[in-house]
Amino acid sequence: MKNGKIIGLGLESSCDETAAAVLSGGRDLLSNIIYSQIDIHKVYEGVVPEIASRAHLEMINTIIAASLNDADVSFDDLDYVAATARPGLVGSLLIALQSAKAISYVQNIPLIAVNHLEAHLFASFIENRDLSFPFIGMLVSGGNTALYKVTGPGEMELLGRSTDDSIGEAYDKVSKFMNCGYPGGPVIDRMAAEATVRKNLFPRMLVRTEGYDFSYSGLKTAVINYLKANPDADLREVAWAFQESALELLIRRVFAASQNTGIKTIVVAGGVAANSRLRQLFKEAAGNGEKVIIPSPVLCTDNGAMVACTGSFYYSRGEFSALDADVSPRVHCRKVY
Ligand code: KG4
Repeated sequence: MKNGKIIGLGLESSCDETAAAVLSGGRDLLSNIIYSQIDIHKVYEGVVPEIASRAHLEMINTIIAASLNDADVSFDDLDYVAATARPGLVGSLLIALQSAKAISYVQNIPLIAVNHLEAHLFASFIENRDLSFPFIGMLVSGGNTALYKVTGPGEMELLGRSTDDSIGEAYDKVSKFMNCGYPGGPVIDRMAAEATVRKNLFPRMLVRTEGYDFSYSGLKTAVINYLKANPDADLREVAWAFQESALELLIRRVFAASQNTGIKTIVVAGGVAANSRLRQLFKEAAGNGEKVIIPSPVLCTDNGAMVACTGSFYYSRGEFSALDADVSPRVHCRKVY
């Protein structure tokens, strides 16, 4: 507790970011420290789990100390500690969760084990004080492409998800095939913005399919086949066409879900939500009274702030985790997943 406000520490290490953040009163971000391992994994063109967990272990104490220091709080000021426990790379998840357990035990404060997917969506509460339940939640990250009806903490009804590659994976694989580097999302984002000729080279996906599922491996293969058949193609134009097709499906599904459920608040979250074209297209598509909320790019990719914010909901409900809480590569939730 500081200045009469609840102080929470959020820790994140589910993939290749070691992150810690301090939140006051469940919404005010006092610090948000993120160490990205991208430079370590770049040479392998993807995340190597064993290397990731070792790098988290080396960095976690420094990152926690920096987050407390930046926030001008001490361990004694903390009211709760939250950490991502699922889903993610098991060896990586363990680092933040075990650190949180140690802090919880020594400081005698509640531990809150957090669902990473819920945390991505709940990051929106930090910048949007009037956001309330229910909302349509579109999660677009490297590991997941999933559409939810979110009615409260722990209450995420899965409406649809990718039946194959996630959208982030498609960005990363297309970039890899173009020899443009890892992670592919930011590179394709920049290249597409530079395209001078903008024409659709790839078909719209799942136009005849009902429901809310997604599929990205067909588009990825279409791009790769196009590049093989057209080795001199302008990569910026291919990046633009790939991105338009990928985002069109997202927008179609999300707005259909909003219309069919009558829920007008739409939250888009996860690493791919940092994409500049996605942000523009979603805002443009909101013409029927929908309210689209997308966190600032720094809160879209993995961070501790979203974990601390999610933790604040469970803290205020008195729902804490036991010290034997475990990590999991999968998601568990009280309602539907
Ligand atoms: O949420 P995130 O940081 O990690 C998890 O998967 O949990 O998402 C990483 C994904 C990667 O696939 C990366 O290429 C993508 O987010 N990404 C982007 C952009 N920035 C990151 N995709 C498209 N445009 C971006 N600007």
